[in-house]
Amino acid sequence: MCGIVGYIGAEDAKEVLLRGLEKLEYRGYDSAGIALVNNEGVHVFKEKGRIAALRDVVDSSVSGTVGIGHTRWATHGPPSRLNAHPHQSETARFTLVHNGVIENYEQLNREYLADMTMKSDTDTEIIVQLIDRFVSEGSEVEAAITKTLSLLKGSYATAIIDKQDPDTVYVGKNKSPLLIGVGEEANVIASDAMAMLQVTNQFLEIMDEELVIVTRDNVTIKTLEGKVISRKPYTAELDSSDIEKGTYPHFMLKEIDEQPFVIRNIIQKYQNEDGSVRLEDNIRTAVTSSDRIYIIAAGTSYHAGLVGKQLIERLTKCPVEVHIASEFLYNMPVLSENPLFIFISQSGETADLRGVLVEVKKLGYQSLTVTNVPGSTLSREADFTLHTYAGPEIAVASTKAYTAQMAVLTLLAVDTAKAKGIELDFDPLQELGIVATVMETLCDQKERFEQIASEFLSETRNCFFIGRATDYFVCLEGSLKLKEISYIQAEGFAGGELKHGTIALIEEGTPVIALATQEHVNLSIRGNVKEVAARGAAPCIISMKGMEEDDDSFVIPTVHKLLTPLASVIPLQLIAYYAALHRGCDVDKPRNLAKSVTVE
Ligand code: F6R
Repeated sequence: MCGIVGYIGAEDAKEVLLRGLEKLEYRGYDSAGIALVNNEGVHVFKEKGRIAALRDVVDSSVSGTVGIGHTRWATHGPPSRLNAHPHQSETARFTLVHNGVIENYEQLNREYLADMTMKSDTDTEIIVQLIDRFVSEGSEVEAAITKTLSLLKGSYATAIIDKQDPDTVYVGKNKSPLLIGVGEEANVIASDAMAMLQVTNQFLEIMDEELVIVTRDNVTIKTLEGKVISRKPYTAELDSSDIEKGTYPHFMLKEIDEQPFVIRNIIQKYQNEDGSVRLEDNIRTAVTSSDRIYIIAAGTSYHAGLVGKQLIERLTKCPVEVHIASEFLYNMPVLSENPLFIFISQSGETADLRGVLVEVKKLGYQSLTVTNVPGSTLSREADFTLHTYAGPEIAVASTKAYTAQMAVLTLLAVDTAKAKGIELDFDPLQELGIVATVMETLCDQKERFEQIASEFLSETRNCFFIGRATDYFVCLEGSLKLKEISYIQAEGFAGGELKHGTIALIEEGTPVIALATQEHVNLSIRGNVKEVAARGAAPCIISMKGMEEDDDSFVIPTVHKLLTPLASVIPLQLIAYYAALHRGCDVDKPRNLAKSVTVE
């Protein structure tokens, strides 16, 4: 979701900014733009659509050693060249890019700029116009920016250029992520370190309600009250090969294939020398001393949370509730006396989760973030963090981050059980090792999943996924994967629930993908398959070795019964991938979606 880059250095900023924006493409966007500063002034180029379209409108003869760039994911006003950033103020003195949502922009407009007609439909424009207005009324630039930022309600990450002082970029942040990169002869600005690894791997975090003044050779961080803050940069532990596709046609396929490695990496990171699970003592204490766990997550991470609940409850007997982040505060349950909140988030930036975390902190409860990005907002703001070590996930559709989340939740459950003196009848790390091997076997059989996708999904307009017990949770994830990248209307159902209404949608040939990996519900899910087949559905059964029947479309090698979701999701990810591919969809960048959902 929206990305910002900025550069102030010795080189021509144009290519650095465009390459940086390309690295942010994975976040999802529908228009893009850059502003370049040189002796002749500020030159703005913007276009609806992809960065490739922006490249076509950028005048190659214009260069400048200072610039800002933006990918926009429309919230206020449709995707268009007009609404794309950068936006310029009435006098064209100030140029700005912004991520986030300004909730009080209409009120600010009425209060301060009633005499002005906004040029765009965006909430963003108010920021740049207010700065210009305050400067026109006599304020110094820094004071005008600080005043403007203090008036904003909502979320923002913003970079501002003043035409009259082209050697400075002003940066502000509240709730939306933004980093400053500190280079040799250049300093940079980026929503994500990946975008500016081309310049530096040294980054400075910016906290909420700080103003940063960036020049070629200096970075000054101040609070909005003017207090100067000293902060050391950290090294971004990213390898640029992690963010390249290599020989793969799509990041999604690469990331699906990386899952066995990710699981082995997690085992290694969380293993003691004696082969037992190693978690930090303070995390163990937080979990064992809580009387109920509340998992808060969204989308795919919510699906991982559903599986995590089963694992934690079965292994530790501690009750767990799983809640959709965007609903939690509106449908808040009665909380237990000593709850622990676990936030599961690949990006660590999801605004819906952050809203809950802020409330949880106000109430004084402990919080743990399970994330793939340890320096992220949710990680910084929670009491504890568990890293999922999946490596950067670029494809919008989450795959390896999901299985990594389930693996880490397994280890959390195992460690808690041990701390509570509960004996387990299996070796969890060995069983996860078997999962990694099975994942490899599944990834080696791509042709079969491509065939299944062709047979069942090349023409259809909808598709159902059914499963019982934990298989149901994997069906929710399988259907989300399919719908988000192939645009087939796909829904996951508990096998027994379909007949309570939704079975009315089954027509001749409607694909129904059924998971049968759970011994105790094998007969009942097969009964549900018969019910839909009798009404014309085309069933595709994916079962587990030991439970298979002759007509099953695919049989997954056996893994431990508590860990089946880590294996059974792989066929569903690959089927979704090939369905999208065959239907000509943009697999890595599906329409309307953003990787990092930083607005509520
Ligand atoms: C789907 C997907 C999304 C995310 C959701 C939460 O493939 O990726 O459903 O899972 O937006 O994002 P995170 O995990 O970053 O909080």
